[in-house]
Amino acid sequence: MKVYHFLLVFSAFALFSLNFSVGQTNKADGKKLFTEYKCASCHNIESQGIVKKRANGKQPSDLSNFGGNINASQLTNYLKKKENFNGKKHPLLFKGSDEDLNTLTKWLLNLKKQAPAKTGTTK
Ligand code: HEC
Repeated sequence: MKVYHFLLVFSAFALFSLNFSVGQTNKADGKKLFTEYKCASCHNIESQGIVKKRANGKQPSDLSNFGGNINASQLTNYLKKKENFNGKKHPLLFKGSDEDLNTLTKWLLNLKKQAPAKTGTTK
């Protein structure tokens, strides 16, 4: 009887975690994390519909076309303030999990491909 009980609990747990991991690989996750970690309070990504007007007129660059000259591990280190990018450290230290950071950086590095083609962008 006891074994039965264990199996029941175990399979319920297995089902639950399966469900959970499916939810984690959702495509929109990067965007969700970007707002959850308040990146959007400083950065716009126009191509993703993330647009805010800042009152003080100060605005870091729009990230719509981001992803050209940095790789995933550099970007990860940059957001953890371990590495410079364009000669500077990122003003905000990323405080989330490594998993979230990986999802976020992958998403950011793919933005360029998702953005609608623009004419006259600098190379
Ligand atoms: C306090 C404001 C602020 C917050 C919050 C913030 N950033 Fe930044 N970020 C900046 C500034 C300032 C720069 C410097 C370069 C610039 O002006 O784009 C920068 C640069 C970047 C760059 C490099 C862009 C480039 O092409 O130079 C990336 C990528 C980036 N941030 C991602 C993020 C992510 C992801 C988050 C959320 C975890 C985030 N930022 C949160 C202010 C912020």
